Amino acid sequence: MKLFVTGGAGFIGSNFIFYLLEKHPEDAVLCVDALTYAGNLETLAPVMQNPRFRFVKADIADRAAMYALFESEKPDVVVNFAAESHVDRSIENPSIFLQTNVMGTQVLLDACRKYGIQRYHQVSTDEVYGDLPLDRLDLFFTEQTPLHASSPYSASKASADLLCNAYFRTYGLPVTISRCSNNYGPYQFPEKLIPLMIANALADKPLPVYGEGLNVRDWLYVEDHCTAIDLILRKGKPGQVYNIGGHNERRNIDIVKTILAILGKPESLITHVADRKGHDQRYAIDPAFIHRELGWLPQTGFEDGIRKTVQWYLDNKPWWENIVNGEYQTYYERMYGNR
Ligand code: NAD
Ligand code: DAU
Repeated sequence: MKLFVTGGAGFIGSNFIFYLLEKHPEDAVLCVDALTYAGNLETLAPVMQNPRFRFVKADIADRAAMYALFESEKPDVVVNFAAESHVDRSIENPSIFLQTNVMGTQVLLDACRKYGIQRYHQVSTDEVYGDLPLDRLDLFFTEQTPLHASSPYSASKASADLLCNAYFRTYGLPVTISRCSNNYGPYQFPEKLIPLMIANALADKPLPVYGEGLNVRDWLYVEDHCTAIDLILRKGKPGQVYNIGGHNERRNIDIVKTILAILGKPESLITHVADRKGHDQRYAIDPAFIHRELGWLPQTGFEDGIRKTVQWYLDNKPWWENIVNGEYQTYYERMYGNR
């Protein structure tokens, strides 16, 4: 099978490419990535010489570039990870989120229609469902939960999902969608909660917890997300949405304290800062459907996964120090300077 993996120079896309090349020796991967601030070619260094892998720098919203690639490469399957992915950035500047996440998805869907495809898979998020209240622990997101996005980021992802459904129903395009909870693991950009807290703790810098830190996220080790997408590609049903999550809900403050404990750093580094605008309270996925239909279950428990993740950031300092010491400093100052 020849797979187009978009956004493969980012966090989850790169982990997916590593997983796929290892697990399926018969498959070839073409990674299409625009290399925005979040894309990093160094991440893909381990596979750059692999004859079954090729990298192309291109924007998924560039119709001419996408059509040319589809025409020359004729992919069997497209997995679309490419996106603007950070909620805080979407609150600052929504436009690029609509451009990449909505228009980019539409271009890919059109290319699939024009050149033919066995499967188009949209990597979506649990954030399209909005949030759940903190005092109703009996409630979970199922595939039937109505879309109710809160941030410009989640609104753009929900729009893309609706387009995917429309292309399935209207044109019969073989589309699947997965909606996963918060991922963590190697190669996550240090703007996100877990790597940001690890990097700051290692530098003995304040750990900026939004509000009281009582918001809840449902954490999944990135490799478990990759195994779920791989199963959906091979055994999933066109037109179907699959929720992915491992019932691992944690309050932000507890995540931060766990990281400090692993690193042997004091809790006095925790600094409560102004809350995120429109901050979603709780995410919690019900993964019963993907378990029942495809037999998927997560393999990495949180205690194991968070230790492996912290160790990865300790062992790969040059990877994230290059980012933290570069252009990212301007972002950090803007986002956290007067908070
Ligand atoms: P990321 O920000 O780490 O990586 C995004 C990648 O997309 C980068 O390599 C970037 O260069 C590339 N990209 C951005 N705009 C592009 C464009 N116009 N054309 C081509 N490439 C472009 O994101 P991530 O955390 O790896 O998330 C990947 C996907 O998974 C996203 O669609 C996101 O919505 C979804 N998702 C993420 C999580 C999570 O916890 N991180 C959970 C569920 C779903
Ligand atoms: O649920 C899936 C989503 O998870 C993905 O779709 C998004 O792409 C991904 O970025 C992530 O979104 P979140 O907003 O949940 O992740 P983030 O790491 O930005 O924040 C996690 C929680 O931690 C959230 O409640 C906000 C809080 N937070 C975050 C940062 C960056 C802080 O308290 N301090 C911080 O500095």
